[in-house]
Amino acid sequence: MYYKSLKRFPKKFLWGAASAAYQIEGAWNTDGKGPSIWDTFSKIPGKTYHGTNGDVAIDHYHHYREDVQLMSEMGLKAYRFSIAWSRIIPDGDGKVNAKGLKFYDDLINDLLDHNIQPVITLYHWDIPQALQDKFGGWASRKVIAAFKKYCQTVFAQYGDRVKYWVTFNEQNVFTAMGYRWASHPPNVTDVKRMYAANHIINLANAVAINLFHEMVPEGKIGPSFGYGPTYPITADPNDVLAADNADDFNNNWWLDVYCRGTYPVLVMNHLKNLGIAPEVTEDDSRLLKSAKPDFLGINYYHGGTFQQNKIEHPSKEEHDEKGFSSKDPYLMQPKDAQAQQPETPMFKNVQNPYLPKTEWGWEIDPVGFRVALRRVYEKYQLPIMVTENGLGAKDQLEDGKVVNDQYRIDYLQAHITEMQRALTDGVELLGYCAWSFTDLLSWLNGYKKRYGFVYINRNDDSELDLARIPKKSFYWYQDFIRRNS
Ligand code: BG6
Repeated sequence: MYYKSLKRFPKKFLWGAASAAYQIEGAWNTDGKGPSIWDTFSKIPGKTYHGTNGDVAIDHYHHYREDVQLMSEMGLKAYRFSIAWSRIIPDGDGKVNAKGLKFYDDLINDLLDHNIQPVITLYHWDIPQALQDKFGGWASRKVIAAFKKYCQTVFAQYGDRVKYWVTFNEQNVFTAMGYRWASHPPNVTDVKRMYAANHIINLANAVAINLFHEMVPEGKIGPSFGYGPTYPITADPNDVLAADNADDFNNNWWLDVYCRGTYPVLVMNHLKNLGIAPEVTEDDSRLLKSAKPDFLGINYYHGGTFQQNKIEHPSKEEHDEKGFSSKDPYLMQPKDAQAQQPETPMFKNVQNPYLPKTEWGWEIDPVGFRVALRRVYEKYQLPIMVTENGLGAKDQLEDGKVVNDQYRIDYLQAHITEMQRALTDGVELLGYCAWSFTDLLSWLNGYKKRYGFVYINRNDDSELDLARIPKKSFYWYQDFIRRNS
């Protein structure tokens, strides 16, 4: 589709930037904050890059006024941040910590004083460690009541001033990393447990949305999903089918539940056959169907390309006397071993020959951003807020004061242009929060991988002076927001 001119972004469009508590706040045990699972996990030797952790991070807890001042200079209309649950309720479901509440009160008030709309994420991966110890975290339905209490507390406290709320950040990412790959807490490698915990989180998401609608009727709430469009590697219908399977497996498995209250049938049947489907009761289904998000948060970094995964069925003669064959290692495994790789018969992830990559091997695909926004909007017909999009790079500080991150400007410019094309196509967009405002701690890549508009003078081994230094991209975004184009 070509246009003579693109639709302008609405006047009220929320040009923003984002962050997450664990990645910026520091002050991990200050003013009564309890430990979260990340405070504990990051101390396990070998789990994070160079043993980096969020104990100090970029010390936003003590620098928030300076950070908000910079946001204001930049002209940000919105700032997305998350609340650390264990700062509000240190043991997860017990007494509320007044000092924790005050920190976010002050931050919100400061943002509003500078005409910046706060966008709050309730959960960006940091459940209180106490709940992990007590119930096994998201593995237990008991955690839903604790989450509800936390939500009730923060809705009551901030609902009068904060309009936009995000429930869960990238549920697809933190469940896979935490319960399948053990590269995030709770450090588990069990696909069945992953699906079970994921279902419980879906219920918690629904409970939070319903509660919010009761308590903050004027507000808007929705989850933020890490979405990647799926492409077939060729026009071979088998590859097209594989890309469809991947779409169901990687995207619809979450989005259908959020927006329709049902799991996609194809994946559900497959998981049932493998014996790893979550247990969904009638009450669960009713709850999931009752909770409608007001918007969808989309985090976009890249999509994926897929091919049919050819699993050969060995002939009788190819079996050995025990009935095993070396021809199809997947099919010949016992069922519970197959169940650890449920996608194997559905699709295979392959390289896309058309797309360049970042230094970390993430595909750079601005057109995929337009594809993503259109697909999600057409399917679910909900307004979209882009809650993350950005480039991780090894930025260099020159002469102690300059960061020439033209590559980030090019990246953002290309993505925003495609977003504007999607807007012109008819997608309803509320805002765009670049990831991230300042540099911050990358969960697994320390401070080497930077995303911010503002450089933070610290490295993996030392906090240095934590000076805030606007990068070239800061001034570019400032100008862009001022002109709204
Ligand atoms: C998103 C997360 O998945 O990606 C952020 O919501 C994260 O918290 C961002 O920082 C970038 O990931 P990484 O691994 O490059 O730091």
